Amino acid sequence: MGGARVSGPATPELTVELAGVRLRNPVLLASGTCGYGEELAPFLDLGELGGIVAKSLSLEPRVGHPPPRIWETPAGMMNAIGLENVGVEAFLKEKLPRLDEGVTVFASVFETEIDRYAEVCRRLSGEERVAGIELNASCPHVEKGGMEFGQDPASLASLVRACRRAADRPLLVKLSPNVTSVAEMARVCEGEGADGVSLINSLQALDVNVETRRPVLRNVLGGLTGPAIRPVALRMVYQVARAVRIPVCGMGGIASGEDAVAFLLCGATAVQVGTANYVNPRAGLEVRDGIETYCRRHGISRVTDLIGALEVP
Ligand SMILES: Cc1cc2nc3c(=O)[nH]c(=O)nc-3n(C[C@H](O)[C@H](O)[C@H](O)COP(=O)(O)O)c2cc1C
Repeated sequence: MGGARVSGPATPELTVELAGVRLRNPVLLASGTCGYGEELAPFLDLGELGGIVAKSLSLEPRVGHPPPRIWETPAGMMNAIGLENVGVEAFLKEKLPRLDEGVTVFASVFETEIDRYAEVCRRLSGEERVAGIELNASCPHVEKGGMEFGQDPASLASLVRACRRAADRPLLVKLSPNVTSVAEMARVCEGEGADGVSLINSLQALDVNVETRRPVLRNVLGGLTGPAIRPVALRMVYQVARAVRIPVCGMGGIASGEDAVAFLLCGATAVQVGTANYVNPRAGLEVRDGIETYCRRHGISRVTDLIGALEVP
């Protein structure tokens, strides 16, 4: 697999450090698009990626929303899964041990109240296999929790403070694009001790079937993802990377090495691949290979040289 790539003296160094975690390359798979890893393991060696961010976990298992909960849109998709997950205990006991030791795993945390968020963080703490925690403060299609915290600076500050106290792992906060100033939200996270920020989660959206006169999703509102949101995500990563000193993990519509490089240039230290996994389960590896090819083509010896290197006239 890896042998297909050209080797030689110009092999670029792809390792990066994200929130204190050393990644073998800057490409992770995004939460909710790679399950708990084992779903994609038949298609690729997850250990060849920078890592994966597992599906958001709550204290107890959650069933999620009724179907239809996924809908294809021009250049993207909408979903309202409703954060269905096995719960933190089953993740630790059943899912995590099935993954190869070489896979870097970030756990994602979602809850409806601050002390419950903190409790999930506490349960994940001390777990060697959990490289870091990503706080999902930005899900746009659940009634309680998620975006509710990510849209209000004071609530976000309380959430990050509580989870920072509870978590002994590196802490990333995943920001919502459904705000007026994403840079302000990132500053709040930095001020409360977050080790990094991830962005963007999906854009709140609605689509309509005019024949039935019904919303396409049973939940009415969903989250838009995929290539359609990439320029919005790039704009936000650019603004956030200039507003904070902590590292930024960028995502939104990445499907190729060039897409990923655009995020690095805008200031992201690492990237996540989400919707593209639904088109091609090997998308993450192809993105990594594409970054390497770009580096060779441009004579770049270390991928870190691309971070924030956007030439702004
Ligand atoms: C079906 C689906 C489920 C998702 N579930 C989660 C989730 O559980 N937690 C989370 O933080 N983000 C979730 N996301 C958002 C993605 O992690 C990512 O932020 C978003 O899809 C943008 O990246 P993309 O355009 O590459 O997909 C989900 C996205 C999709 C498409």
